[in-house]
Amino acid sequence: MPTKLLYLHDSYQKTTTAKVTKVEQSSQQTIVYVDQTLFYPQGGGQPSDIGDIIGANGTLKVSFVSYNGGNLQHKGKLVGHLQIGEVVTLNLDWEHRYQHMQWHTAGHILDQAVKNVFPGIHGTNGEHGISKKMHVEFDQPIPLGNLPAIQAQIESIVAANLPISLEMVTKDEIIKRQIYAPFDLPANKPLRIVTIGKYPSMPDGGTQLQATSESQPITITTTKAKNGHSSLYYEVGVIAPETLPKVESVTTNTDSESLMVLRQHIASIKEQLMAEKVTAFDLKTKYLGKKGLFNDFAKQIKAVPGPERKTAGQLLNELKNFFETTIASRSAAPAAQAWLDVTLPGITPPVGHVHPVSQAMEEITTIFERIGFTRVRYPEVEWDWYAFGALNMPSSHPARDEWETFFVDAAASPQKGKMVLTPHTSNGQVREMERLDHKPPMRMININRTYRRQQDATHTQMFHQFEGLVVDKGINIPHLKGTLDYFAQEFFGPGTKSRIRPFHFQFTEPSFEVDFSCHLCQGTGKIQVDGQETKCKFCKSGWHEVGGAGMIHPNVLKAGGIDPEEYTGFAFGWGVERTYSLKEGLQIDDIRLLYSGDLRFLRQF
Ligand code: DAH
Repeated sequence: MPTKLLYLHDSYQKTTTAKVTKVEQSSQQTIVYVDQTLFYPQGGGQPSDIGDIIGANGTLKVSFVSYNGGNLQHKGKLVGHLQIGEVVTLNLDWEHRYQHMQWHTAGHILDQAVKNVFPGIHGTNGEHGISKKMHVEFDQPIPLGNLPAIQAQIESIVAANLPISLEMVTKDEIIKRQIYAPFDLPANKPLRIVTIGKYPSMPDGGTQLQATSESQPITITTTKAKNGHSSLYYEVGVIAPETLPKVESVTTNTDSESLMVLRQHIASIKEQLMAEKVTAFDLKTKYLGKKGLFNDFAKQIKAVPGPERKTAGQLLNELKNFFETTIASRSAAPAAQAWLDVTLPGITPPVGHVHPVSQAMEEITTIFERIGFTRVRYPEVEWDWYAFGALNMPSSHPARDEWETFFVDAAASPQKGKMVLTPHTSNGQVREMERLDHKPPMRMININRTYRRQQDATHTQMFHQFEGLVVDKGINIPHLKGTLDYFAQEFFGPGTKSRIRPFHFQFTEPSFEVDFSCHLCQGTGKIQVDGQETKCKFCKSGWHEVGGAGMIHPNVLKAGGIDPEEYTGFAFGWGVERTYSLKEGLQIDDIRLLYSGDLRFLRQF
């Protein structure tokens, strides 16, 4: 049998009797089970209750209570003994409990205050005294500048002394009534909802105050943001139950009919005021003006019978105070934001700069534009045809293996084959021939992102290449060599030379590998250190290998609709990151740093 949970129905009950159903003894403590309890088991951010379970021959000093699947365990030190079946008295440590209620209800008031400022936001979690840092977590960020407005809302809700009501419900009812729950509610637990005034209800199983004025002052201390969520931390002042304004007004029913009507009106007009969206000035006219709502109310006093007129007068005074403080807090909110001293120098926003790889691409573009090349950018998600087929690599040609290609999971084209992430910028060659309607002359520089399945200190899966293509009548190898020398001097500085070595590519004939001379040893492979000649550590041989080049293969020209008998051309292509990292003065040992997003690294460029 699960324990009957009296605290769910009445948080103010301090004592009850119950029957002992089980007693367990461990070396450390005794665990007592009873048929019904007032003790709140730790959970939902609220700490466990403490108190006494008193029997005929013994007392359990309850120091912790746990839910234990509904069979509550009251744990503590037992002096004497308790018998199964025995009727015992449960006494709560009321001071502790009352403080827990003030903390917990404060969390709900804060939650509502935030919702008043940010409609649509949801509280997702809370911590109301288990650790010393009480807070409510929300599913959206809350800018610091809004804290004064939220604090003002808290104060209005507390000042309005709104009643807090509890209702037992089923999970179905919660769904039907569209009550927001931050997580899936258990179907096997008694469920309860709590409602502050006429605000939307929310699921809650803790112990709650009867009215909002019992928890004060509530102060927001800090806010923290994480992963798009935010937490508002709060503190609650200590008020002993005895010193509180009587809350019986909310629950007792000894009023005359007209006094009750007046109370109801007052409660609804307070809520109306809090929901107002107009300026403080308009509020003043509407509520406190000559023909305002307050004066309207004052007239109703006449309807209250003689003996209760005094209470009615007090209620009206209270209402006036409420109007005044709430309206004042409204006009204070914008003032708080207007602290700004416009004569102070502003805060300079941080200014970034172009990423080193983008700088390199801009520089490469300008160098080639100066000798009549046109900068283009062809697709990085590409058909097999442009990346391989048109480049004299029919499907299943073994040369394709060198380009460790990513395939895109998309339907293949009957003419152009599968879709890939282009592994090189050579895909632009035939595209450029198509763009210019197969009519040379053409001078293209294609720079774009390229992708290969490889990652280490000198390779990233995504990198950039640039591709040169020249087609015209009479183009030959010296044109290629001259272009490479020109680029070497412009990009790496005067004195840098290029070198071409025979190689093989499917799409060029003849093909070359391209090297640039090392700026540290001027292409000699040796440097002088303290008068001693040593091997250049940067290049080891005097040269840096950068990429490939060659005279365009006749089959590629044909694929681009150009007659290889009439026209010839050269092409070259290689990596932007690699080329850039060879620049004088740069020592980039690990190319992955370029994409690390690490500002300490990037700021150097
Ligand atoms: N596309 C080749 C690669 O990624 C490089 C290359 C070689 C480009 C020869 C060319 C060329 O234009 O003619 O390895």
